[in-house]
Amino acid sequence: MGLSNKQLPKLGFLYLDYVLRFFDHSNFKGWPNKIETVTYHWKNDKDRFIKEVKRKKIDVLIGNIPATAYETFREIARELPHVRFIPSMDTQFSNKSKENVTRFAWKYDLPIPKTYIYYKHDNADKFLKKCKYPKIIKKSYGPSNYGGYFVHKVDSYKEARELFDEKKYHPQYFQDFIPMEADIRVMLIGHKPVCAFWRRAPEGEWLTNTSQGGSMDYNDVPKNVLDLAVQVSKAANAEYWACDVAYGKDGKVRILECATAFAAFPYIRDWIGQYIMWSLSEGRFRKPHAPMFNWEELGKLDSSILRTMRHITFGEYNSSYDGAYFGKKKKLFGENEVYLHVLDSEYKMYDVKRRWTEEWPSEIYNYQDNLALKPANKSSKQEIANDKDVPSPTKDESSESVQDEAKITKEELSDFLTSVDGVGAKKVEKIVKHFGNVDEVVGVLHQNTSILTEVKGITKKLASKIEKAWKKLLK
Ligand SMILES: Nc1ncnc2c1ncn2[C@@H]1O[C@H](COP(=O)(O)OP(=O)(O)O)[C@@H](O)[C@H]1O
Ligand SMILES: [Mg+2]
Repeated sequence: MGLSNKQLPKLGFLYLDYVLRFFDHSNFKGWPNKIETVTYHWKNDKDRFIKEVKRKKIDVLIGNIPATAYETFREIARELPHVRFIPSMDTQFSNKSKENVTRFAWKYDLPIPKTYIYYKHDNADKFLKKCKYPKIIKKSYGPSNYGGYFVHKVDSYKEARELFDEKKYHPQYFQDFIPMEADIRVMLIGHKPVCAFWRRAPEGEWLTNTSQGGSMDYNDVPKNVLDLAVQVSKAANAEYWACDVAYGKDGKVRILECATAFAAFPYIRDWIGQYIMWSLSEGRFRKPHAPMFNWEELGKLDSSILRTMRHITFGEYNSSYDGAYFGKKKKLFGENEVYLHVLDSEYKMYDVKRRWTEEWPSEIYNYQDNLALKPANKSSKQEIANDKDVPSPTKDESSESVQDEAKITKEELSDFLTSVDGVGAKKVEKIVKHFGNVDEVVGVLHQNTSILTEVKGITKKLASKIEKAWKKLLK
């Protein structure tokens, strides 16, 4: 059963220059037809990109869009109405900014820390004068996170004022501070949790990012956390999804972040590829089976092994054979002790279908450009659009995370950096050493070059020279 080679939709990978790739052909093992590749080159590349998709007769475009290209891709999607984007632009709404995550959660009544978004800084100031502290201030845009680098705790009006004066964030986005045990990352495919782990803050700290020295483990992720993640994935109509859930000291669960772009071991991306193949082939390809709590077992392996394991498959529970084996292991889950395989029918992998309506049209929901600090006059709209159209990679801070192959090599990075006056080979080495590897440095260049000043010998002035050169390179 299922579609023949000829009937299968034509697939294409959606890539962007300088952006880490979530999928490649190896994740779609067994797909019988050619999978096309279409790469967006930034800066006025919209029309060419659209033409290429049409010329290649692509039906389904697969890939994550980084925040800075999100609005452009909403436009592109409108001009390619016959093309299905996986994930859809509506599903990727939360990828763009923390503000979008919040608006998404507000709409679906999903629990989040109480959040305030101000485009009018005067009003924010009035509020900050009388509100309770501590508060958490975040940079909204650019959800490609940098391990809490743009997340700040303030304990008084004075601190909040100083921070906003210094950082110039717009909109001004802040939240009530939630004392938490830990936060939990849940990854889902077709609304089924396929991996989950705790991230705990170091002693006496509040940031749970493992890159800041915290720890992680896969054990006994609570039911209410998994249930919330499923609810969020369904609300987003997400083919695949990751959710960071804060596990509060008050026992409540709240969403911190959610997105389709996240760091995942290759075997998880294989499952996603297989899931998409299954979904698009009307059953010709096998639906992947990822048993509930597989992560507790796989998580016992060293992450260097997990990083290299590919195409992991599991058999499904079948009472007619080996029932004793499957049936033996019970787990305390929620209020009850349950057999693990029973959870597989409770947490199903659903076939997520395309939606044809636009849930988050930019005319309404692109507050960020609609309420920009310096409103664009009509004639310069195009220019402004180009200005925001600079890349930022999708990346993640967790130490177990896998870096996809970046397109930029060390030589290229070195050539670029040394082209800037005041940067020599020695400094390049220092920079790479400081951030760990080439990908990290590229991430910093995309995100915020002022982070470079962490490296000894890089002044603010030099960092801004590098930024200018980087922007020029991307033109
Ligand atoms: N409202 C909050 N109260 C307490 N801690 C928070 C709050 N929001 C975020 N944090 C902490 O800061 C970390 C980073 O915040 P997050 O929103 O995930 O930003 P990012 O990961 O993009 O830097 C979280 O993992 C969590 O440890
Ligand atoms: Mg985070």
